[in-house]
Amino acid sequence: MLSCVDEILKSECLSRSEIITLLQAQGKERTKLFTCAAEVKQKYIGNKVYFRGLIEYSNLCAKNCLYCGIRQSNKHIGRYTMTENEVLEAVRYAYQEKYASLVLQSGEINTPAFIDRITDMLLKIGTITHHSMGITLSLGEQSKKTLSTWKDAGARRYLLRIETSNTELYRKIHPQNKLHDFYQRLNTIKSLREANYQVGTGVMVGLPFQTVEDMADDLLFFREMDVDMVGMGPYIEHTDTPLYQYKNSLLSLSERFDLTLKMIAILRIMMKDINIVASTAMQTIDKMGREKALLVGANIIMPNLTPRKYRENYLLYENKPCLDEEAYQCKSCLEARMHLIGCEIGYGEWGDSKHFENRQDLTTEDTENTEKSLI
Ligand code: 5AD
Ligand code: SF4
Ligand code: FES
Repeated sequence: MLSCVDEILKSECLSRSEIITLLQAQGKERTKLFTCAAEVKQKYIGNKVYFRGLIEYSNLCAKNCLYCGIRQSNKHIGRYTMTENEVLEAVRYAYQEKYASLVLQSGEINTPAFIDRITDMLLKIGTITHHSMGITLSLGEQSKKTLSTWKDAGARRYLLRIETSNTELYRKIHPQNKLHDFYQRLNTIKSLREANYQVGTGVMVGLPFQTVEDMADDLLFFREMDVDMVGMGPYIEHTDTPLYQYKNSLLSLSERFDLTLKMIAILRIMMKDINIVASTAMQTIDKMGREKALLVGANIIMPNLTPRKYRENYLLYENKPCLDEEAYQCKSCLEARMHLIGCEIGYGEWGDSKHFENRQDLTTEDTENTEKSLI
């Protein structure tokens, strides 16, 4: 007999209430969701996983998000910025090992000196890698001008999580000031598209006050925004943050993990050709967290390239893994893990979002058709 979940999984375009039912699926129904997501992934994406070498460039941040361990007001961490040489060393390692893609991430800084330093670094990365690396930036909200300067200097993709699509909840987990404005963040995501970046966003799952309806709305938000990449992870409390006071009202870690897995699976069914990250935060909760995420729809992993001496100071959340490992150790660890679950690592390939490529093709086709019709 067909169950409600069977019916839902046949639907062309999932509705809000269908998504909520899937997020609440248990037992056999939950397994059906995961099986369906795995089939969609196999059909549209295949079993390749792409590496994005993550360089946590600096933990300086002008913002004070109430959940984040490197927020400006946290005085319990040593602040650092990698030297240009250290960044370029990490880039050379990634280039040599055929990672093909990099993510340059830091707290949010908008000073002209920071902007220029990033521009310079992008140009140098281009030179030493013969423009062969797909560069992703994750440097917070920036002006249109800065975004286009960095694009021209060689960046292809940009990650800016919306954190939650619920404006009320957004207000509860951020300070009330202009620097932490939901609509400002939303506009920056729109500017990324205008600047022709591959656009990535994402949310945290299991935040205090967050409901299953909010999570369904997050998934609908990704679809509405037609994004190319999504990174979602469970919210993990950090002692030195204001949100820590709500630790007793949270879902258990395993419930947050399970909901994140379901979010990934449902998203894969909704947006078949986008890139989805198996986030490091998932591994914090479950030793096989990233593998589980890959098996239900994710296709991207971000091996850490940050020099070991800095890693303990980039703790956005507690118990982040790989603190004692150098880049080469994460590489062999991940190779073994990918082998175990039958995923092939797409060494030497950019692994761009197929969604982005398909949209570009459509745009070219449109232009060609318009041109043809003009002739
Ligand atoms: N738990 C999980 N994820 C977090 N991030 C920041 N703080 C936490 C936390 N306590 C995530 C945010 C941010 C990304 C870089 O890290 O989603 O966008
Ligand atoms: Fe800064 Fe990002 Fe942390 Fe917010 S989440 S405090 S912007 S590093
Ligand atoms: Fe860093 Fe496994 S990925 S040690």
